[in-house]
Amino acid sequence: MTEALGLPPLGDEAAYRQAVAEAVAAAADYYGDGSTPLDDDAYDRLVRRVAAYEEEHPDAVAPDSPTGKVAGGAVSGDVPHTVPMLSLDNVFSPEQLLTWAASLERRLGRPVEAWSVEPKLDGLAVAARYREGRLVQLITRGDGTAGEDVSHAIGAIVGLPDRLPSPATVEMRGEVMMTAAQFEAANLIRVEHEGTPFSNARSGAAGTLRARERPYKVELSFFGYGALGLDDALAPRLAESAHSEVMAYVAGLGVQTTTATGAGIKACADLADVRSRVEEIAGLRTELGLGIDGIVIKTDAAADQVDAGFSSRAPRWAIAYKLPAVEKITRLVEVQWNVGRTGVIAPRAVLEPVQIDGTTVTYATLHNAADIGRRGLLLGDQVTVYKAGDVIPRVEAPVVHLRTGAETPIEIPSACPRCGGEIDTSQQRWRCVQGRLCHALASISYAVARDALDIETLGRLRIEAVLRAGLIADFADLFTLDYDAVLGLDRMGETSTANLLAAIEAAKDKPLNKVFCALGVQGTGRRMSRRIARHFATMDAIRTADIEALQEVEGIGPERAALIVNELSALSPVIDKLAAAGVSMVEPDAELGEPAEDEGLPLTGMTVVVTGSMTGPLAALSRNEMNDLIERAGGKTSSSVSSKTSLLVAGEKAGSKKDKAAKLEIKIASPDEFAALVEAFL
Ligand code: IVH
Repeated sequence: MTEALGLPPLGDEAAYRQAVAEAVAAAADYYGDGSTPLDDDAYDRLVRRVAAYEEEHPDAVAPDSPTGKVAGGAVSGDVPHTVPMLSLDNVFSPEQLLTWAASLERRLGRPVEAWSVEPKLDGLAVAARYREGRLVQLITRGDGTAGEDVSHAIGAIVGLPDRLPSPATVEMRGEVMMTAAQFEAANLIRVEHEGTPFSNARSGAAGTLRARERPYKVELSFFGYGALGLDDALAPRLAESAHSEVMAYVAGLGVQTTTATGAGIKACADLADVRSRVEEIAGLRTELGLGIDGIVIKTDAAADQVDAGFSSRAPRWAIAYKLPAVEKITRLVEVQWNVGRTGVIAPRAVLEPVQIDGTTVTYATLHNAADIGRRGLLLGDQVTVYKAGDVIPRVEAPVVHLRTGAETPIEIPSACPRCGGEIDTSQQRWRCVQGRLCHALASISYAVARDALDIETLGRLRIEAVLRAGLIADFADLFTLDYDAVLGLDRMGETSTANLLAAIEAAKDKPLNKVFCALGVQGTGRRMSRRIARHFATMDAIRTADIEALQEVEGIGPERAALIVNELSALSPVIDKLAAAGVSMVEPDAELGEPAEDEGLPLTGMTVVVTGSMTGPLAALSRNEMNDLIERAGGKTSSSVSSKTSLLVAGEKAGSKKDKAAKLEIKIASPDEFAALVEAFL
């Protein structure tokens, strides 16, 4: 069985006993103070190996085995629960979900009336007891039968008011957790006070919930997923209501529910609906700003829940669809300091390679120098690393209790690691005082790349040569290059010089969006440059735009607007040189307005994803050119398929994206069909 799971089986009883001991110790930490000697994935795998051994050796099952027990049997408390606080059974794939649903319907002897689908929050289960509208007791789940009294935390949990607007006697059940923002804030305070940050949001929530006397305050959040009436009036009323009605009642009392997570509870009529909702929540995972480790699917109607009943461990009317772990623990081996094309100096973590969400992660961002201090990181630390979907992996925090004493401070550079010059540390993101000139090769390469000025004949080696010869300092100088000076460079003959200068000359006529993109303004890329150019139509209008005016462009908020204004002022000499050299500063398509306003274009209002290799009329187009085409035709582009996708262009060898689109019943077009649709824009 373990081999079928892709896990090595436990060899003998001694190995089994050791695995049980390890799992029990890990569960005690996890459900105790929330610390994590094993990450979730490693713990799950260990317990699955234990379970597999037990299935084959039922006589050898250890009494303290974590299998089949709430919280791995690790914890208990002394406040009895009104009704046991159970666990949830898990499924890991759509197929397992369908099998579970089918067996539930067989048990019921009828189809499930309706489903309720909501995020599975990665926090700690608590019961919050209200007597006549007043919050009187807060209890952890414990072993499911009795929990620990943590009422001292009353008043410190967002979403769990001390008083309800009506005198209800009711028990709210839900998850106490730290949102991402609360986790960041908590670690700032922790490092200031004790120097020991929480290793992740979950352990921060666990530690904070139990802490009695701290000289500082740390905020937690509550999200309810159930409620029980505690008096004769409310008990039958809630027991006879559908889950969605109970949750609406809870929210009506001012208690935060899973609905407030941004991936709220949704009623689904059938399993196809459930599946697309599961996909949708999974797709939202990185945007929620709080940890979810799965999706909970419940029968909504009270009668279905009553008839399905419970096993000793979990309700039969609900299941957790587990999502892959997005956080792992690995070692921070090195910190590298890289200078980007705009002169920004950014630290990057080199990690012991670790598998997260299907990819091997070796590097992770550390944001900026201040961030390293804020997180209290040391070289050699075991660190929690987060990576989900398309997001750049990031180091969250050190796992302080795994320190060996061999860790060393991280060296923070005092001079630019590229040119040795001064560093401007006035902003969070440090920058070489030379700015773009520090890494001119990178900024010029960016300016002449296909998305910008598209000067194909100007490769990296040639840029290096003109830079080395001192002929240019930035990309604007390209337009005033002298024929004889270029001819004098190594390996430049008359023809290649003439061709290069002709290609540069031709680039003067590029539309404003390409010229703007070439500037490499922080906070803008190809797509944003197009929006800005279409909105303002001329470079002069962009340069005179203030923070407010810039925010009229879709996707620009106050912070990005301020950054752009700053950048444009620093880039003034470059823009002046471009204008003086006769580079075009107008956007011919400006009258079309921003893409969002392109009414009547073939892809207006559509989000299009491209996958596989393009053929026929689209064969020569790169992915960027395809994206360009989609935007010209009024559409938006995305790299991943979700329920928001309107159309998938699937070329040859299209893989999982095509399967996913088919499952979500999203329209799929071949390259030929798509080419016909956008013919006028090709
Ligand atoms: S319903 C009878 N809904 O996950 C148990 N549980 O791994 C019904 N959890 O013990 C639980 N989010 O602490 C439910 N939306 C949600 C949840 C959720 C997180 C927790 C809960 C449960 C554990 C099982």
